[in-house]
Amino acid sequence: MKTLMFVVLLGIGLHGAAAVTHSLKYFFTGSSGVPNFPEFVAVGLVDEVQIDYYDSNTRRAEPKQDWMSRVTEGKADYWEYSTQASLGAQQTFKANIEILKQRFNQTGGVHIFQWMYGCEWDDESDEVNGFMQYGYDGEDFIAFDLKTETCIAPIPQAVITKNKWDNDKAYIAQRKNYLTQICINWLKKYVDYGRSSLLRTELPSVSLLQKTSSSPVSCHATGFYPDSATLIWRKDGEGIHEDVDHGEILLNHDGSFQMSVDLNLSSVTPEDWRRYDCVFQLSGVKNNIVTKLDKSNIRTNWEKPVDTIIIIATVFVLGLILIVVVFAAVGFVAYKKKKDEGPKHKDLTASADTLMSKQGLYPSILLSVCLPACLSV
Ligand SMILES: *[C@@H]1O[C@H](CO)[C@@H](O)[C@H](O)[C@H]1NC(C)=O
Ligand SMILES: *[C@@H]1O[C@H](CO)[C@@H](O)[C@H](O)[C@H]1NC(C)=O
Repeated sequence: MKTLMFVVLLGIGLHGAAAVTHSLKYFFTGSSGVPNFPEFVAVGLVDEVQIDYYDSNTRRAEPKQDWMSRVTEGKADYWEYSTQASLGAQQTFKANIEILKQRFNQTGGVHIFQWMYGCEWDDESDEVNGFMQYGYDGEDFIAFDLKTETCIAPIPQAVITKNKWDNDKAYIAQRKNYLTQICINWLKKYVDYGRSSLLRTELPSVSLLQKTSSSPVSCHATGFYPDSATLIWRKDGEGIHEDVDHGEILLNHDGSFQMSVDLNLSSVTPEDWRRYDCVFQLSGVKNNIVTKLDKSNIRTNWEKPVDTIIIIATVFVLGLILIVVVFAAVGFVAYKKKKDEGPKHKDLTASADTLMSKQGLYPSILLSVCLPACLSV
């Protein structure tokens, strides 16, 4: 169960957003009986990047991106509303777990109720899509089908809920309106504000690493964004698959990604080494990073200690320089953004705001006026 939640909370950043399809998603997780974990957690994501956070310990909804704070600048009630709505959902989730425990004849143990919804928008074709589903103890519980405007209940315990929700015509209309209009409006607004951050591309630094002289050589790329990237080994300019081991794409602490691909060279003669290279390619970026397989390029940790000291010292100095550069860059970007974000946003923001206030829905989360009727199983 714990694993499941960590997948939900940490794994979300790892699934790549395609270059042109943007998404706004919300994940709500209510749990009972999990020690040292908040009973209720809500996160919002734009293009898989976390934009906000609420949990039952802090009891406050808060922004997780600089640009997210700017979207809601001067609208203190946005976060107040989000907080109130999340508090309401938190209570409903708690009640839902109790109801479902009874429906599943469970008395104690660890239980989890999850709600996930959101929308996608293709900024080239303008196609949109919405989805909403609920899970209990890691299994699908019920889902709302936007096409038929009815709920799908894959298990008998969800039939009562399906009947109840399918009969609430007002809520169906509201859900549909949210998924096809309001969510999309917010998504466009967020992408517009987060443009420089969400649509950025960052090339990685690529290095060749080898543990021992007989280990495979690992081509390691770190610091790229977004995660739609490939890393391959080539021989004579042709991609190779044999003796190659691809690692997973991992999320770095700063939001960038890393990955590596290993090449087993045990059956390659030293004079053939020069026929190999490692190629990194970021989707939508023309320039590849090509690294030739060359003994002098490989970083190892089985060298003489003096080299290690030099490397450590170099890394330390580079680290310091990097920190200074990053601070300078952040300052510059912040300054530039302040300058750039003039009237361009005004129209979109104004139209979204008008729509939202007309709908009585202020923040982009859908928790609105219907609680708890619409969320209670
Ligand atoms: C729960 O218990 C009731 C009565 O003992 C039984 O009729 C029902 O089938 C059980 N449900 C499940 C999901 O086990
Ligand atoms: C590399 O390949 C050789 C045979 O080609 C094999 O014996 C060895 O186990 C491989 N090494 C790794 C780390 O996979």
